[in-house]
Amino acid sequence: MAKMWQGVTDGVTSKIADDFNSSISFDSRMFREDIAGSVAHAKMLAKQGIISDSEKDSIVTGLVGILEDLESGALRIDLSCEDIHMFVEQVLTERIGDPGRRLHTARSRNDQVALDLRLYLRRETGEIIVLIKSAVEAVAKKAEEYKTAVMPGYTHLQRAQPILFSHQLLAYCMMLLRDIDRLEDCRERMNRSPIGSCALAGTTYNTDRRFEAELLGFSGICHNSIDGVSDRDFAAELISSLSIMMMHLSRFCEELILWSSWEFKFITLSDGYTTGSSIMPQKKNPDMAELIRGKTGRVYGDLMSLLTALKGLPLAYNKDMQEDKEPVFDAVDTAKACLGVFIPMISEMRANPENMLKAAQTGFINATDLADYLVRKGMPFRSAYKIAGQAVAKCGEKGLVLETLPLEDYKTLSELFDEDLYKDIDLMNCVEKRISEGGTSPESVGAQLNYIKSLLNKPTGGSR
Ligand code: ARG
Repeated sequence: MAKMWQGVTDGVTSKIADDFNSSISFDSRMFREDIAGSVAHAKMLAKQGIISDSEKDSIVTGLVGILEDLESGALRIDLSCEDIHMFVEQVLTERIGDPGRRLHTARSRNDQVALDLRLYLRRETGEIIVLIKSAVEAVAKKAEEYKTAVMPGYTHLQRAQPILFSHQLLAYCMMLLRDIDRLEDCRERMNRSPIGSCALAGTTYNTDRRFEAELLGFSGICHNSIDGVSDRDFAAELISSLSIMMMHLSRFCEELILWSSWEFKFITLSDGYTTGSSIMPQKKNPDMAELIRGKTGRVYGDLMSLLTALKGLPLAYNKDMQEDKEPVFDAVDTAKACLGVFIPMISEMRANPENMLKAAQTGFINATDLADYLVRKGMPFRSAYKIAGQAVAKCGEKGLVLETLPLEDYKTLSELFDEDLYKDIDLMNCVEKRISEGGTSPESVGAQLNYIKSLLNKPTGGSR
């Protein structure tokens, strides 16, 4: 069949070329946005006197009917069409005749596709923001549930200093709140209307781009028509923000995988979010956490695909840009699926505070506090650091820990040691003393929790 764009060519392409050229298998998901865009376009054309009111009415009624039929399943997407834009226009024209042929006045598929993609991703970004908020809530709730559980904090994956488990959890809340910020920023830049840029140069018709932008809920228009049709920054920025968000989920999942191993046993993931082994009956595998970690790479790949597709493109539209959709849709779908499993997995996770404490009791993680004790008794920190190291070595020789090393042994290292040292190196006490803002004391962690809650209660929800 000859194409709608038949002009200088005979419009007959080979089946192989048609299949290769077609994007309808993946862009048909934008049918709602395509229809909403066309409704707004018809209204603008009529307001400007470019089409008549009755033509506008029949276009709008036709489009609404197509939308209803697509939603109900009465109308099926014809996959032999080149893309969703062609499909909607074709069905409209079949249904209403001539007015349907007037819809494409003062626009091009170049600005139409840029519009649809912005509308589609704007909504998806909003949905992802809501999901991230729920993730923050789930993690903060866990932190509240296990407010005072003490665990070893790590650097280099070596036990470092005692911290509250809740403190570590809230660190992830902070990351996710920044992710919300990034997505909100991205959505703001995305929220400009490209429609009316037409093929690239604008149009001779007396259009009202701002009116059309307003109908579609945009906060403004793209100010340069060539940029309007060439710009895919908003998609790259979205995948980039999602990549960072996925990196956060992945780090968290890595900890969940470690913590649920027999080596740690700090947490137990619920049966609903683990799997068994087909051969080893004792196994409980953290597949969901592993898959989130694994899918992070896929989202990074989506970012690379898009950036690479764009990097050599001269202005304005090039067909390469059709390759923007699959990566950005995949990134959005993957991020939503990961958040969708992450949230209940966290909510159902149980912590094992006794095991955390046991781990905290070995590894001399209160050695810094022992040094600080001597500093408070007047010794310079560098000397105190050395003596605390000697105390650790003595414990090593005797198979003891700092809490059980007798005072006589301490006295051989420094006369400043006294009975009160034991209170200073008590693990809970070590945690309670770290009252600096943002620190690990229950008081500081409580303040962090309140801060997070206050952000979640704001309509925007980011970290500002
Ligand atoms: N399916 C195309 C895309 O996704 C729509 C724009 C086509 N424009 C054109 N000049 N061929 O990019």
